[in-house]
Amino acid sequence: MLTQHQNDLLTRTGPGTPGGRLLRAYWQPVAVDRDLPPGGPPLHVRILGEDLVLFRDEEGRPGLLGLHCPHRKADLSYGRVEGGGIRCVYHGWSFDIRGRCLEQPGEPRNSNYKDRIRHTAYPCIDVPGLILTYMGEGEPPALPPFPFFSAPRSHVWTRRMINECNYLQGSEGNVDPQHLSFLHRVDMGAQVTYGSYLANDEAPAIDVEQTGWGLRVETSRDIGEGKRYVRTTNFIMPNNGSFVGVPLVDPRISPPDSNDGYSLNWHVPVDDYNHMKYAIVYRISGPVDPVLQERYIADGLQSDLTWKRNRQNRYLQDRTEMSSSTYLGMGANFQDHDRWVTESMGPIVDRTTENLGATDRAVIAMRRQMLAAIESMENGKPPPFVHAKAEDYGLDAFFTGSRIDEVKAAE
Ligand code: FES
Ligand SMILES: [Fe+2]
Repeated sequence: MLTQHQNDLLTRTGPGTPGGRLLRAYWQPVAVDRDLPPGGPPLHVRILGEDLVLFRDEEGRPGLLGLHCPHRKADLSYGRVEGGGIRCVYHGWSFDIRGRCLEQPGEPRNSNYKDRIRHTAYPCIDVPGLILTYMGEGEPPALPPFPFFSAPRSHVWTRRMINECNYLQGSEGNVDPQHLSFLHRVDMGAQVTYGSYLANDEAPAIDVEQTGWGLRVETSRDIGEGKRYVRTTNFIMPNNGSFVGVPLVDPRISPPDSNDGYSLNWHVPVDDYNHMKYAIVYRISGPVDPVLQERYIADGLQSDLTWKRNRQNRYLQDRTEMSSSTYLGMGANFQDHDRWVTESMGPIVDRTTENLGATDRAVIAMRRQMLAAIESMENGKPPPFVHAKAEDYGLDAFFTGSRIDEVKAAE
């Protein structure tokens, strides 16, 4: 349970808010690469309550500028990409990716007025499958050296999807391992899968450890015959989580427990009432199977903005299915399950009236860590997991995966 003030600190992320300052201190995804192919049209994006235009200049470099032209506020996402930047189609002012005004065709030839115009501009960087931006103060930090940021493009699969609720609800789901025993239960018949491990022990032991990047969460379940199934999940400051996810290729070739990669859910506020969930799947040893990922993850996503299952149609919950194959009655797509549950809580959860239990240990730890980081920034100190040099991130012990432990018999 939080106070109203604490809940506001964590969930309000618009410009000038303490929570917004925290999220802006880190690189954040602003699009997936397929949204912005070289030569493609500019894109209107809304992130952290700001309306912006994302485009690639003629050299293919991504730029993120204020949506509205600083002249008389026309929408730059309708603009032309030319002349070293993006040109407003109202009166022809143009801007480069750093927000410098390059041309003002209507001004006197000898005017230096354009040099006094600086449009809102945020630095961007391409990483496999994503375009990241830095919207914080000062120089951007180094990119944390996670291997999926430097992997071959084929080893990484990404999609983005709108969730109609505050980002924190989604982020909390990443460190709530007990819900896997219920919400996502899908009948796999007699086959023993990691899903059946999850369903067979509904009260897992959850161990939480603070790390340089956030939290390591170890969840251990009794799977019988003196064995325990242990999953290592991570909370990555301030709105990302990594976990054992869907199979990376055909499960017969690379079962989920092979520790050959993992999934990440990165929850980026659109505004306080919506967030963009970036689903990332990373395989270490070779290409991810994109067809499999589309089937497992994006089935039901009609576009980035509309879903087949939604609040208006009660997510097509099927009570017959609930008695025959799935626990929730909303198909087998985990994205649908998670989106339903987080949206069902309301636009921003009222955390002043919840009643937390033993299985919420990691959620509690995550909130504490976020609140401490906000307080630290408000006191003029840098937030955790922000470094100027990549080698200072200390990710050697970062691991996401699972193992089976033999339980020693009691003496
Ligand atoms: S409004 Fe953009 S150039 Fe005039
Ligand atoms: Fe989930």
